[in-house]
Amino acid sequence: MPDKDIILEVKNLSKVFDKEVLNIKKLSFRRGKVYGIIGPSGSGKSTFLRLVNLLELPTKGKIYFKGEDISMNGRTDIPARREMTLVFQKPLLFRTSVEENIAYGLKARRFTKEEIKARVETLLEKVGLRDFAGRHAGTLSGGEAQRVALARAVAFEPALLLMDEPTANLDPSNVELIERLIMDLNRNTDMTIVMVTHNIFQARRVAQDVIFLHEGRIVEMGATEKMFTSPQDPRTRAFVDGRMIF
Ligand SMILES: Nc1ncnc2c1ncn2[C@@H]1O[C@H](COP(=O)(O)OP(=O)(O)O)[C@@H](O)[C@H]1O
Ligand SMILES: [Mg+2]
Repeated sequence: MPDKDIILEVKNLSKVFDKEVLNIKKLSFRRGKVYGIIGPSGSGKSTFLRLVNLLELPTKGKIYFKGEDISMNGRTDIPARREMTLVFQKPLLFRTSVEENIAYGLKARRFTKEEIKARVETLLEKVGLRDFAGRHAGTLSGGEAQRVALARAVAFEPALLLMDEPTANLDPSNVELIERLIMDLNRNTDMTIVMVTHNIFQARRVAQDVIFLHEGRIVEMGATEKMFTSPQDPRTRAFVDGRMIF
């Protein structure tokens, strides 16, 4: 019997470009939890997210979403894809209004007009952009744009929210706002959230579990506080102490 609480699981997942850049024996993500993936630059964090989101094909291995193998055939037009979303470091918005951007996924999923209006309003409020509904996305600051990108990503309550360094380019007040939104989603929905960050302090603030990647492999993973206070591997210790260059 598959465990219903496991939203995402990968087995023997490998990606080879010029060389193997990712090799994960087994990794599972449970419903409703926030995971932080940390590791130095080039350790395979983005590659992992791109494989899960089917932007990239694995060289070997399996990816299961809600128990279903989604890594087959290189097909991306599968229902599972509509239940997950990836937010990038650099916000990607459509060249239209803030409101239209947030409504996009809801329209595609045929939510009613009333439902769309209500959700857009709630989200604008949550990301502190209540008065921005009609603004053209092109006129937003980097922080505002990322808040809209995140609002758009979560509007339809995906089962799985993937984020790749979503606050890396932002100032502290925008970082705080986005972290609060993530914690709010964790409290009020059963979304599984996977956040890649090379900011260990951020991982410590928002993640319940942390996975430390190094040279494409999991060095160590577990409950966040334990990883930070008593890391077992010397490389983890070096990274969380800020002694590993990244
Ligand atoms: N499309 C690609 N072609 C060749 N090499 C790539 C490609 N994408 C990533 N890589 C390499 O894979 C490794 C892991 O990259 P990445 O997943 O982006 O790391 P991270 O996000 O942890 O910084 C790096 O050595 C990178 O140069
Ligand atoms: Mg990356």
